[in-house]
Amino acid sequence: MKITHKNGILNLSDLNQEVALRGWVSKARNLGGVIFIDLRDKSGIIQLVVNPDNKYYNEAVKIRAEFVIYAKGTVIERSNKNKNIATGEIEITVDFLEIINESQTPPIIISDNTDALEETRLKYRYLDLRRPVMQNYLIKRHEITQAIREFLVNNEFLEIETPILAKSTPEGARDYLVPSRIYPGEFFALPQSPQIFKQLFMVSGFEKYFQIARCFRDEDLRADRQLEFTQVDIEMSFVEEKDVQDMIEQLYAHVFKKVLNIDIPTPFPRISYQESMDKYGSDKPDMRYDLFIENFSSELKDIEMPLIKDCLSNGGVAKGLIIKNASSLTRKIIDELALLAKKYQATNLYWVKYQNKELSGPLAKFLTPDFAKQKKLENEDLVLIVSEKNNNRANTILGALRINLAKRLTLIPKNSYKFAWVVDWPLFDYDPETKNYAAAHHPFTLPKANSLKAFLNKPEEAIACAYDVVINGHEAGGGSLRIYSQEMQERMFQILGLSDEEITDRFGFFVNALKYGTPPHGGIALGLDRLIMLMTNTDNIKDVIAFPKTQSARCQMMDAPSEVANEQLEELRINFKK
Ligand code: AMO
Repeated sequence: MKITHKNGILNLSDLNQEVALRGWVSKARNLGGVIFIDLRDKSGIIQLVVNPDNKYYNEAVKIRAEFVIYAKGTVIERSNKNKNIATGEIEITVDFLEIINESQTPPIIISDNTDALEETRLKYRYLDLRRPVMQNYLIKRHEITQAIREFLVNNEFLEIETPILAKSTPEGARDYLVPSRIYPGEFFALPQSPQIFKQLFMVSGFEKYFQIARCFRDEDLRADRQLEFTQVDIEMSFVEEKDVQDMIEQLYAHVFKKVLNIDIPTPFPRISYQESMDKYGSDKPDMRYDLFIENFSSELKDIEMPLIKDCLSNGGVAKGLIIKNASSLTRKIIDELALLAKKYQATNLYWVKYQNKELSGPLAKFLTPDFAKQKKLENEDLVLIVSEKNNNRANTILGALRINLAKRLTLIPKNSYKFAWVVDWPLFDYDPETKNYAAAHHPFTLPKANSLKAFLNKPEEAIACAYDVVINGHEAGGGSLRIYSQEMQERMFQILGLSDEEITDRFGFFVNALKYGTPPHGGIALGLDRLIMLMTNTDNIKDVIAFPKTQSARCQMMDAPSEVANEQLEELRINFKK
């Protein structure tokens, strides 16, 4: 059953050629006795024509959507051209036809526009993946992955795999646990990342490592989060922060050029964590549009509005957004924005509009006309203000409003990519009430040289040698320089509240490894699924994963997780509490 061509590449230059083709039937129509068959393969769709006097006509009559067929015929010019498809100027008059396999009527329409529910698409994922749009996502996934490999291999990185059955790695999510049959009551943990292994590779002297690594995190799913996902995991010895960042910029530049033929400007801008919070209200700033958080604390310090006044005199802040050309933002929309602000625990959302040289809105009576001048307000500007005791709370609320407004006002330019490094992160998240420290990244992160005193005496003020790469408001990757002294690593675990016993029990092997001549090292992990999402312009991570989990953390197709046989549980000596 030899074929001569792929369906999607045939065109007018192939006129009169004898061709042999195969594929799936996208559509079969009988128009006044003439049968038209759209034949699909990975490369595209071509139209076959079978006339009533054709010897294979009776065979053609039986053909339905998604049958697999083989056909031979001649390329002819269409009288009725279809400009919407690549092969739309030609068709094939059939002189041989064979049904290779039949198909039941599929539960979803196999075409780019399908009205199937996501649940049905995931249940019949193998059919969903027949749709050209879905095929394209995975083809792009392949191209992006290969381009990444190519770059890293050409830059002397070694690709080495690490175990999936492992011990808990603290990346901040819950572990997926695997019970051991041989050691009842003991568990492996699936890796949240290969963090410890890649650092051990540096101890072993490999110097430059990478892996396209599967990671498992039992956490709440979101549009850009799966519980099983893929990282481009990288580690390098003898590096500074800038060495890792420069290499990643070149990696992205290579991949965007190779796969999308887009030149991305390097170096990427660097912004400190606090500046990012103060300006964008987020630690993953979307820099594609200019709408910045402004500090109104000094302008409003004498305001007679009691809530704001009290907040400011107690060390709080008043911050806001000035939205230009906001005439489309009606009272109803402002109410919706206030609800969103409340969701982020705002005390209140204040607003004032500037129209025809006058301020209006609930806050207007507390403001002097000078306010408009100071803030250089123009006609139809809307000012949204929050006043909060905690600066970063005010930032986060305004950050959420900023993203919402950008969508409402279509401020985000299409097909643009804005990269940035977010640097100078705090080393710890500190809870002043419980006096507990948690690692802001993970507990292997090196403090900045000028933060060593703080690390020892006032850890909440220590700054980390950590960096996140952000693309269009998504956290695309995160990394750091690592602690390479055993004493400092132990101190880190102590600050995090681990007893000596716990350190030995959970990380003894690792702390021990650091005693044997560990080189300074650092690295990063890029979220591969997120990168593919961004490069294929989808906002749903499931689109770029072949067999993703649902929002409720299940595999709809296999119906997993599922109960297992009693014998299996007995072997593992597992009993469930009723
Ligand atoms: P981190 O936890 O920041 O760092 O993860 C690195 C990147 O992986 C992606 N990512 C995810 N993608 C999809 N679904 C998820 N649930 C998910 N969680 C994370 C993000 C993120 O930036 N070991 C460190 C890296 C290092 O220090 O080298 C780590 O895993 O894009």
